[in-house]
Amino acid sequence: MRSDGATDSGNIPKHIGIIMDGNGRWASKRLLPRSAGHRAGVKNITKIVSAAFDSGVDCVTLYAFSTENAFRPEQEVNSLVDLIRKQLKPMTRELIEKGARVIFSGDLSYFPNDVCEIIKEIATENADGWGQIVNIALNYSGRTEIVRAAALAAESGNVTAESLERNLYTNGLPELDMIIRTGGEKRLSNFLLYQAAYSELFFTDTLWPDFGKSELFDMLAEFNHRQRKFGKV
Ligand code: FPP
Repeated sequence: MRSDGATDSGNIPKHIGIIMDGNGRWASKRLLPRSAGHRAGVKNITKIVSAAFDSGVDCVTLYAFSTENAFRPEQEVNSLVDLIRKQLKPMTRELIEKGARVIFSGDLSYFPNDVCEIIKEIATENADGWGQIVNIALNYSGRTEIVRAAALAAESGNVTAESLERNLYTNGLPELDMIIRTGGEKRLSNFLLYQAAYSELFFTDTLWPDFGKSELFDMLAEFNHRQRKFGKV
């Protein structure tokens, strides 16, 4: 264990998925509107992703907007879309400056044109990023991703695990070693369903805006000790 709490040897997860739950409750506890919780949630992203990268993680996938989130009350959906409109660029800038590459997963056609443009700009501007990858899941559904990949594989006339995987948004990314869900619930909520087959799952009651580096480091240390068998003995 290093002095900053991170593991310095052994098994560092190559790819972590994060379900950033609890923003609404974080805001309610402070008598603030739910949108304030989402704003606080955005602020936490750069800190946690940077800490993961500094610990040696290669890729972080963030569940930022699920297909189901689009069915929340209109006011909340609008505030989430507006947050993406205003905060996506500043949020990703620091990570891109560190050399990270930002990519997106999901059906982006859902978003208004100006938001699609922002997403496209970020994805193309840093296409040469050499280092770690931040994969932001926007209007993402794990089931829809599998159906889409199966349909594309079928179109090519060759449905195998390999051809299906080639058509997932995560094609080319490292295996998903670990999923963290904040906010107390213990489920995957349609996140990376195919990729999660052998992921180690970590759940915490901490609400996403309060999830700090030390809890991440504790989880990385626990991951390092877990024995992964991938179905074997
Ligand atoms: C779950 O909390 C969180 C979300 C539905 C959205 C997460 C999104 C962000 C942190 C910001 C995304 C923005 C950018 C720019 C990437 P919840 O609302 O379900 O919380 P609750 O369970 O306490 O109600």
